[in-house]
Amino acid sequence: MSLKEQIDMSRLPSHIAIIMDGNGRWAQEKGQDRLYGHFHGVESVRNIVEGSAELGIEYLTLYAFSTENWDRPVTEVTGLMELLVETIRKEVPTLNKNNIRLHVIGDMSMLPEYAKNALNEALEMTAVNTGLNLVMALSYSSRWELVQAVRRIGEDVKKGLVDPDTINHDTLQKYLTTSAFPDPQLMIRTSGEFRISNFLLYQLAYAELYFTSIRWPDFRKEHLYEAIIDYQKRERRFGKTSSQLQDEMTAGTETLNN
Ligand code: IPE
Ligand code: IPE
Ligand code: MG
Repeated sequence: MSLKEQIDMSRLPSHIAIIMDGNGRWAQEKGQDRLYGHFHGVESVRNIVEGSAELGIEYLTLYAFSTENWDRPVTEVTGLMELLVETIRKEVPTLNKNNIRLHVIGDMSMLPEYAKNALNEALEMTAVNTGLNLVMALSYSSRWELVQAVRRIGEDVKKGLVDPDTINHDTLQKYLTTSAFPDPQLMIRTSGEFRISNFLLYQLAYAELYFTSIRWPDFRKEHLYEAIIDYQKRERRFGKTSSQLQDEMTAGTETLNN
């Protein structure tokens, strides 16, 4: 049985988030410049977007550039920014052909003007698509997102639009850049690093985490399938006990049978 056939299509995660890491080391291991790694990382993005769409995944969030990445050497930042914008621009026809809608989360105010324009154009051009939602985390960091959410809630409290006594999880959710998306059930990080690096800290509360030593430019559909198969073997307890979950499942089956 192929890896793809081993996936239980009735229990797919609806939202997968990926920290695409290891481009620089992949290139340096080959005696090349770090940008060479980013360039090859684009092929992995294409492959994984295609693989996710084929499976019927509803949301795919890709961490492409963190707010901390602005502190990298200027040549790398500029090269990476140009590559990202150029790729997004070039891929619009393919996104449309495959009914994929592009979204962007992050601090857009940090982006150069040409990047903002190209992104807005791509967002508009794919806005009517109803298949896979491809969320690019660009100039994104979770602490930035949470701080701006708290700030905006504060402003709305001041305007009398929000009663502080009623603020709950749903309120906060509405002020996050991810308000239109469900929380990811599966988070994958490539390149053998075991950390979150300021990515979706709040939204990953109950996500299953999957780490692989594969560098991002080598990551392909087969690796995605392996991650999903691993995810499907796990018991997601959400604070309950294993036997409680089994009781709930039995009750659910009985309801179905009656
Ligand atoms: C991930 O690869 C891409 C970005 C962070 C933009 P890296 O550039 O972090 O590659 P490594 O981790 O240094 O190998
Ligand atoms: C996280 O990778 C950000 C992206 C993949 C875009 P980094 O390479 O920047 O993370 P650290 O510095 O190793 O934690
Ligand atoms: Mg890295």
